[in-house]
Amino acid sequence: MGREAIEVVKLSKKYLTKKRKGLLRSEELVIEALRGITFTVNYGEVVGLLGPNGAGKTTTIKILSTLLLPDSGEVRIGGFDVVKEASKVRKLIGVMLSVEKGFYGKLTGRENLIYFGSLYGLSGAELKRRVDEMMELVGLKELEAEDKLYEEYSTGMKARLSLARALLKDPPVLLLDEPTLGLDPMSARKVRDLVKSLAFREGKAIIYTTHNMFEAELVCDKILLINKGLIVASGTPEELKKKVSDIKTVILQVRKGTGNLNAFLSKLTDITIGNIVTEELDVNYIEIKFNVRAAEELLDTIIRLLTTEGLSMSSFKVVEPTLEDVFIYFAEGKTS
Ligand SMILES: Nc1ncnc2c1ncn2[C@@H]1O[C@H](COP(=O)(O)OP(=O)(O)OP(=O)(O)O)[C@@H](O)[C@H]1O
Ligand SMILES: [Mg+2]
Repeated sequence: MGREAIEVVKLSKKYLTKKRKGLLRSEELVIEALRGITFTVNYGEVVGLLGPNGAGKTTTIKILSTLLLPDSGEVRIGGFDVVKEASKVRKLIGVMLSVEKGFYGKLTGRENLIYFGSLYGLSGAELKRRVDEMMELVGLKELEAEDKLYEEYSTGMKARLSLARALLKDPPVLLLDEPTLGLDPMSARKVRDLVKSLAFREGKAIIYTTHNMFEAELVCDKILLINKGLIVASGTPEELKKKVSDIKTVILQVRKGTGNLNAFLSKLTDITIGNIVTEELDVNYIEIKFNVRAAEELLDTIIRLLTTEGLSMSSFKVVEPTLEDVFIYFAEGKTS
């Protein structure tokens, strides 16, 4: 066992469900939610699990937080096995799930935290102080929501309370499943800043799931791109972008009502990577955005296509791809 806070080796998980076939019949269905993922997280590091809906992010968080048993593979947190030493693991982790259960509607936010704090073994003045500090930290004080009933909380308030609970016993490892889901932009930024400082200043090891590349780039030291239960690429945000550095994004504007746009778009698919996005800018112009490899060489081809289809171009730009483009590239089955 190394010094890593979290070690995940060849982790797999299948769900067995039934698929409806008409009114009475159903068929066994196996969903491979995780197909052997391996990664480590060090203390002081925020590692992002970035992937689309159904990628396996929540499944990973649930297994790491001892709420779900894996089928195979190994997971160690602080050196302890999540299956065989689950109670030791639970002492080290703070968990925030995106669909949160377990809070009491008829208790206030503060009372809920006091309840969970005492379950975690905190008591007396220390418990009170800790609850107070956490409500301040996540901004529930600022919203004057400390003594509101939980059932009267807004989505954002619930998310904040959930984060406060995860932090209550000051755990060295945080497992956060979409912590900014439902938060307004200002609140989301606060949460991101808080997460970064918990890793940077306090040396916590943090897993942060999101399907927002912009967010992953802002928060994470390292990103694992996960798709259909597999890690399809990993690295720092910069490294991921470099992996596809020969890909360029082309943005062009054409005048509406000139030439045959559909014919142009259909021919364009021969040279593009990923989707072509078209957007009406105003009554006169349409913007077309797509990714190509080595754009300079293809420039002539694109311009020739435009001319052939009789389209009048008003602007042509070649820019670096965003992390989102990189993600789409890998999610389409390319591996690095
Ligand atoms: N309890 C369950 N029973 C059956 N299938 C499940 C169950 N939970 C998740 N799955 C399936 O496992 C796969 C991975 O789901 P998971 O919730 O881990 O994805 P996710 O990356 O968290 O997605 P999202 O971004 O939508 O939260 C999906 O195909 C999902 O339908
Ligand atoms: Mg999820």
